[in-house]
Amino acid sequence: MEHFAVVQSIIRAGLAGNREALDKQVLRLRERLETTGQHKEAATLERLLAAARDTQDMAPSRVEISRARVVGEVLDTGVNAPIDKETGARLCTIDFPTRNGGSPVYSPRVLEAVDGLLGEWTNEAALQAVDVSPTRSLLIYGPPGSGKTLTAHHIAARLGLPLITARIDGLISSFLGTTARNIANLFDFANRYACVLLLDEFDALAKVRDDPQEVGEIKRVVNTLLQNLDLRRGVGITIAITNHDRLLDPAVWRRFEVHLQLGEPDESARETLIARFLRPIEAPASTRRVFSYCLAGRTGADIERLCTSVKRTLALSGEAHDGPGLFHALSSVLARTPHHDHMPARILAADQEAFVSLIANDGAFSLKQIEIGEATGYGQSRVSDLKKAKRHLSLMEVSHAQ
Ligand SMILES: Nc1ncnc2c1ncn2[C@@H]1O[C@H](COP(=O)(O)OP(=O)(O)OP(=O)(O)O)[C@@H](O)[C@H]1O
Ligand SMILES: [Mg+2]
Repeated sequence: MEHFAVVQSIIRAGLAGNREALDKQVLRLRERLETTGQHKEAATLERLLAAARDTQDMAPSRVEISRARVVGEVLDTGVNAPIDKETGARLCTIDFPTRNGGSPVYSPRVLEAVDGLLGEWTNEAALQAVDVSPTRSLLIYGPPGSGKTLTAHHIAARLGLPLITARIDGLISSFLGTTARNIANLFDFANRYACVLLLDEFDALAKVRDDPQEVGEIKRVVNTLLQNLDLRRGVGITIAITNHDRLLDPAVWRRFEVHLQLGEPDESARETLIARFLRPIEAPASTRRVFSYCLAGRTGADIERLCTSVKRTLALSGEAHDGPGLFHALSSVLARTPHHDHMPARILAADQEAFVSLIANDGAFSLKQIEIGEATGYGQSRVSDLKKAKRHLSLMEVSHAQ
């Protein structure tokens, strides 16, 4: 039997009740299937994993994360954030993230990286045995809306630690020398407590660097930052976030042990997000496929925004809250949105029948005609007629010509 060794590992992990190992082995099998060209089976496994992850989120965390190495006083709601002495502006916000909102949904590569980091904290003793400590500094980068801030909150929630978020914008002061002092004060504050320090919108520092008048000041700021990052390494966990990784000073970039790139979700992650954001409407599997097909290339935040608009449109349309109702609502939401880079979205915005013809003819889409009917409300024979008419082709030509 092909892949028997992995199947055996899956059974072993399942029988031992080791959830983490089980997930890992299923991912391994998924990768093997992918490399041997069994894409459909690989996608099925990925969907099973995603569904399990979503139900797992509903249950309280059973993972006890060792926090022995995160030192400091307990930060509670009574503690005030430090302020800029000149303006009185707060240098950071303090949050106590919980796991209530549901975990971020990732493509397998990102999931493995994030779980790996959390795993370092759960298996700290194993790391200590080879004289290394868990990762303490993480740089997250990627396009707007890809879940960077959400990921930082998720990590803090999983570690059961409060999150101190520095708004770099707030730290930057027009008074000479104050920015560096603000940074030092912020790090002093974070180092005093057991917490995760989050430097969100980190690239805002580049703004100062762009100003030719500020050469001396930016050197001082970057040096202070580097010194403080080095000092903090032995104390607590630091996460920095940027949309523009190339704007970061290379010396700052090097200070972070792990660099995590977030991007647009893959197909299976998209389907999970779509199911989540369409709730309480239960979208059938065929509808999730259609939505996912149209929303390829969009970030998690885009998908959330579109699904919310779809729910609004459907609620006011008086149509049934089922596959066809959702399909019509998606079509009108896309039609109202000015421009779509992605061809299927452009076609659905323009002409629903042309879209049905497109998916019926797309071998990679792999939905049966009956499922296309369920998702769109067209009868099976109409789907078959539209497929033959290849109505989408003329739209595609117009689109290419533009
Ligand atoms: N991977 C994801 N999983 C689940 N939800 C997501 C994901 N990505 C984005 N979202 C949704 O989009 C919202 C915005 O995400 P978030 O604020 O983390 O993006 P960001 O990358 O920090 O964006 P920005 O660069 O604009 O600050 C989240 O609150 C969440 O609802
Ligand atoms: Mg953000």
